Amino acid sequence: MVQESRDALLQAALEARQNAYCPYSHYMVGAAVLGEDGKIYRGCNIENVSYGATVCAERTALLTMVAAGCRKFTAIAVATGDDFDTAPCMLCRQVMTEFCASLDVPVLMTSPDGPVYTHTLREIAPLPFMNFDPNKDYHG
Ligand code: THU
Repeated sequence: MVQESRDALLQAALEARQNAYCPYSHYMVGAAVLGEDGKIYRGCNIENVSYGATVCAERTALLTMVAAGCRKFTAIAVATGDDFDTAPCMLCRQVMTEFCASLDVPVLMTSPDGPVYTHTLREIAPLPFMNFDPNKDYHG
């Protein structure tokens, strides 16, 4: 992916993290996805007093993209407060699988002043449940 889009995506994830609503865990997460339409969609974690109703930053960003009418993403960046190589939760990996342009999309992990770790979705979500043909357009 081109350097400018990568930098813009990382920056968007870091900025979105500032909007995290996490009064229970105090763990702030931001995410940004690059839609196939060239737009960046942002998300943050949004917790709830009924803890199970919490939505992760990655899913907030992905669902925002879909709600805006874009159904494929070509890269995702996630920002946490951890400067070690952490990765999105399994539920978010499944949702990423649903809306990825390809399983080879980059998943970038960063934190303020921390390094950037890069994986592919295929690496972090091997053998996903995909009861559909990824080459068929179900969305048209
Ligand atoms: N969280 C995310 O936003 N993304 C993940 O991939 C893992 C966890 C959020 C959910 C919750 O608000 C907080 O981090 C602590 O689990």
